[in-house]
Amino acid sequence: MNLVQLQSTKSSLKGNISVPGDKSISHRAIMFGAIAKGTTTVRNFLNGADCRSTIDCFRKLGVKIEEIEDEIKIYGNGFNGLREPIEILDVGNSGTTARLILGLLAGRSFHTVIIGDDSIATRPMKRVTQPLKDMGAVIHGRDDANYTPISIQGGQLHPINYQMPVASAQVKSSLLLAGLQIEGETTIIEPLSSRDHTERMIKQFGGQLSTEQNTIKIIGPQNFQATEVHVPGDISSAAFFMVAAAIINDSEIILDNVGLNPTRTGIISVMQQMGADIQIDPNKISQSSEPNGTITVSTSQLKGIEIGGELIPRLIDEIPIIALLATQAEGKTVIKNAEELKVKETNRIDTVVKELNTLGANIEATRDGMIIYGKTPLKGGTVSSYGDHRIGMMLSIAALVCEKEVYLEGSDAVKVSYPTFFEDLDRLISK
Ligand code: S3P
Repeated sequence: MNLVQLQSTKSSLKGNISVPGDKSISHRAIMFGAIAKGTTTVRNFLNGADCRSTIDCFRKLGVKIEEIEDEIKIYGNGFNGLREPIEILDVGNSGTTARLILGLLAGRSFHTVIIGDDSIATRPMKRVTQPLKDMGAVIHGRDDANYTPISIQGGQLHPINYQMPVASAQVKSSLLLAGLQIEGETTIIEPLSSRDHTERMIKQFGGQLSTEQNTIKIIGPQNFQATEVHVPGDISSAAFFMVAAAIINDSEIILDNVGLNPTRTGIISVMQQMGADIQIDPNKISQSSEPNGTITVSTSQLKGIEIGGELIPRLIDEIPIIALLATQAEGKTVIKNAEELKVKETNRIDTVVKELNTLGANIEATRDGMIIYGKTPLKGGTVSSYGDHRIGMMLSIAALVCEKEVYLEGSDAVKVSYPTFFEDLDRLISK
């Protein structure tokens, strides 16, 4: 793994920035473009490793996808346009690609094998393979189809009524992608609402579904029409700079065109509750299919809070950077009901606690989250991303408030969701 010395600064963060496109929406735009009829154009697509894995898998499934300057064109031919791949589909580091593609392939009458990297090989897939088997798909894999490599033979499925044990947009989306191909009504019930990009995209591509509280009903089979998708900036990427501006002296940054879908804005609620100086200006007119706007954050006096319950799915990917924020807040911050962190790209309870404590934080791991005792000065040292993009970016922001040098192993991991992270950060540091 590569080792780099991170930039530390006693100066401030200033200026405007547009973070790259949303990862979740970019994946879904490729998938829906592939199963729609006609040519879908995607603008502001996230050209990170995860979304590139999705493009690669759909090309192997026979879909023509062109990249012309900063636009992606997908020449969809409906569900029937997908072909049995002659190659294994490699999802790389992307759990979203693995889980959503399994749902889609469950309804296709052909055989596919799916693999990924070492991290994917440890991430639970039974949460999708079990309900997909219940629908009638034939799926094999290690440990009773819980881990890759996984093979799937799809075909004629039957609808199910499924109470999801965890709030997961990947599980929900996988089952929706299967349900869309099934004759009859599929019902999916979530314990708490998770991100709803798939539901929005079904409607944007001309499909239908009904949502009442946490129950989603879908009647298939459905057909989709190609459209234009304008991907807003990823709030999960913006979160690193939002936190940086709040904790670094004399800072003010303006983040333009950030996605503000209410199922993703938990980080804003948390920063507001902690007392951050943060302003949200929704765009009234926008080309994007999802709500978006401008976020302004300045240096803030912060206090610890309790984070749990329905907030957790709305900020699940932001917990590493929220933990850093809490180290710079007065008092105790408790994060609970976040067991899902254990099955992300790394066990993010372990990696966050270990690496921030190495830098001088005072954080205690709990069964379902962590307790952060602030405010602690951060010192310095050698830390690792463990190959997890969000851990790498969080530690790079932590380095900015450290008193001494910080060395990061595995900085390359940021390419998964934010290939230009270090360049963008460098631009915001006022020289
Ligand atoms: C995602 C859903 C979340 C999130 C992941 C992206 C998606 O995962 O952590 O980064 O695009 O649907 P879960 O569904 O496992 O919570």
